[in-house]
Amino acid sequence: MATKKIIAGNWKMNPVSTKEALALYSGIKKNSARLKQTTAVVFPPAVFLATLRDKGVSIKLDLGAQNVFYEEIGAFTGQISPLMLKNVGAKWVIIGHSEARASGDTDLEINVKILSALKNGFKIILCIGEKTRDAQGKYLAVLQEQLEKALVNFPAKKLGQLAIAYEPVWAIGKDATGVETPDGFLHNSIVIKKTLSQIFDPKKAKTVPILYGGSVGVKNAESFLVAGHADGLLVGRESLDIASFSEILKIAEKVK
Ligand code: PGA
Repeated sequence: MATKKIIAGNWKMNPVSTKEALALYSGIKKNSARLKQTTAVVFPPAVFLATLRDKGVSIKLDLGAQNVFYEEIGAFTGQISPLMLKNVGAKWVIIGHSEARASGDTDLEINVKILSALKNGFKIILCIGEKTRDAQGKYLAVLQEQLEKALVNFPAKKLGQLAIAYEPVWAIGKDATGVETPDGFLHNSIVIKKTLSQIFDPKKAKTVPILYGGSVGVKNAESFLVAGHADGLLVGRESLDIASFSEILKIAEKVK
């Protein structure tokens, strides 16, 4: 993946109408028209993808899906295939988000989803993160294990399609019980890089962008990108606000 900062907006289960989705996408698109140093991508609910692609298509604002199934076609009620997502304009997919893990995605499913998305040419944001933090640093083993299990059989030559989002579960959403610091992120991203370099050739592993996610907003985006050396940000709530998300894009564009 290029060295551009990746700013990803995870809309989760919002908004509830196509009209609102279109307004949000169009507003963000307008403000991403001049981006040069930043890759902007939004992850709307899958039901809106086709409309956004048809009415709002933009070379400066990519579309992604919030999850994907590992099979391509068949009797899998309620699932969405990578082929379908490709056909409605998604170029990226989030896999292993803590909310998808909480509603049942296992490490094994995450692994096969990644391999299937990879085969179908998607850029993947693999989310990892611990549920609780302990002072002894035992939580780091959770990150290592999530990475190792998710990346079984991942071909090193396809590392260009992978980004990791470190999202401590306790720092996500309106019920977050704490805030991660840029220093904390930096420390954990080093552990993540080290783990990747144990799985893959260290030179290739170094190229995988590490994003931060969990209560990112206008107020702290710059500190994670500058002091935390994050290669990008995965933004939840503040990606639903045109002004805030556009401001985060502007901040990313400015940082070196
Ligand atoms: P948040 O969500 O920014 O609302 O904390 C981030 C995420 O879950 O990706």
